[in-house]
Amino acid sequence: MGTSFSQRAGWAEGQPISDLMARALANPHLISLAAGFVDQQSLPVDATREAVAALTVDPLAARAALQYGTTHGFPPLRHALLDLMERRDGPAASAASLDQVVVTAGSNQLLHLIADSLLDPGDIVLTASPTYLVFLGILQNLGARACAVATDDDGMIAEALDAALQHARRKGEWQRIKAVYLVPYFDNPSGITMSTSRREAVMEVVQRWSDRRPLYLISDNAYRELRYVGQDVRGFRTLDESGELVVEAGTFSKSFSPGIRVGWGVLPKSWMEPVCQQKGNMDFGSPNFSQHLMAKVLELGLYDAHIESLRATYRPKLAALLAAAEKHLGALPGVRWRVPTGGLYVWLELPETIDAGPAGPLFDRAVAEGMLYVPGQYCFPAEGAPIRPNTMRLSFGVQPPPRIDEGIAALGRAIRGVLSPP
Ligand SMILES: Cc1ncc(COP(=O)(O)O)c(C=O)c1O
Repeated sequence: MGTSFSQRAGWAEGQPISDLMARALANPHLISLAAGFVDQQSLPVDATREAVAALTVDPLAARAALQYGTTHGFPPLRHALLDLMERRDGPAASAASLDQVVVTAGSNQLLHLIADSLLDPGDIVLTASPTYLVFLGILQNLGARACAVATDDDGMIAEALDAALQHARRKGEWQRIKAVYLVPYFDNPSGITMSTSRREAVMEVVQRWSDRRPLYLISDNAYRELRYVGQDVRGFRTLDESGELVVEAGTFSKSFSPGIRVGWGVLPKSWMEPVCQQKGNMDFGSPNFSQHLMAKVLELGLYDAHIESLRATYRPKLAALLAAAEKHLGALPGVRWRVPTGGLYVWLELPETIDAGPAGPLFDRAVAEGMLYVPGQYCFPAEGAPIRPNTMRLSFGVQPPPRIDEGIAALGRAIRGVLSPP
């Protein structure tokens, strides 16, 4: 007799990540432009060795790091995170305090915790279209709904957000909409960074619709530090005068090491209690050694230096991908891509007749030609706007420039093959 698993286990079915990883691993010769991994050679071996040595030289400090920590996280790290935010953003419209910072095992855990604290089955989160596919999985896992809001080259369109909220009110669903989720820096997958004026416009809508009850804005800042061109843009927290509407997620995974896996949240004060209660039941504290380690990395000034080296690593890779796209895809009709100023991703659109999904003709052909991409269809919410299967996400983080060129050449052959079969 089969085990009867929970409804939530059923809701979790069909997430695409594991299958994509398996395909890549099954064929090590494939040039994967799919996984959002960081560059292997860029990982901070020396900085980590130095920080571990400094951390363990004092037996008392070493034992503290090797013991369990607290649910909220290591206070010196939380202080250091507040300092870091102030260095990046200047003083926020409403300054955050220590009791608003929680440290998690990567920002993915934070996203889980806030979704779990906020959403009941049937509740709705409005997202850009496309958006971070793992967040869509988190919502699905809770029986919650993701609803797409139209997006242009500057990210979510404020008027479209307003229209989506009005539409929900007409349908009697407004009470169900709990939050807006955005990846405002070098979005995964679209590569878009929202301008200050677009952020202000979106924040204005969120504030206006929060007059009777809060409509939260979840700002997932995973890629903020990975800027290769231009100036940093102020975070959403600086636009939230009440300090009660913006939930900010951060992580050291992309900017230092995903193996250490430290993320954090800066939450409205009223959120700390429910989030930390959930976290208490889940793990009563994220891995403590990692937190002490990151606090030491920041204290020794190793973090900023590493970010500079990352920028120097990724800048030529992004340039290589864009040059390869120009060379191998530029002449193909209806093939377009967006040029990002940072992050790890380039979003590519094909003619509408081409299905780039896993069951379509292009995906297998690209694998046969020797490359792997993430089908864009995984990144679209099920409701609110059409899913566009003629899209894909390309990552330039992992492969060296010559392999990026080879991978895009293989993609070009695959697209040509689908456009004009022999
Ligand atoms: C947009 C976005 N948010 C969050 C994460 C989660 O990263 P981590 O849990 O390692 O902090 C990722 C990872 O790829 C991401 O792309």
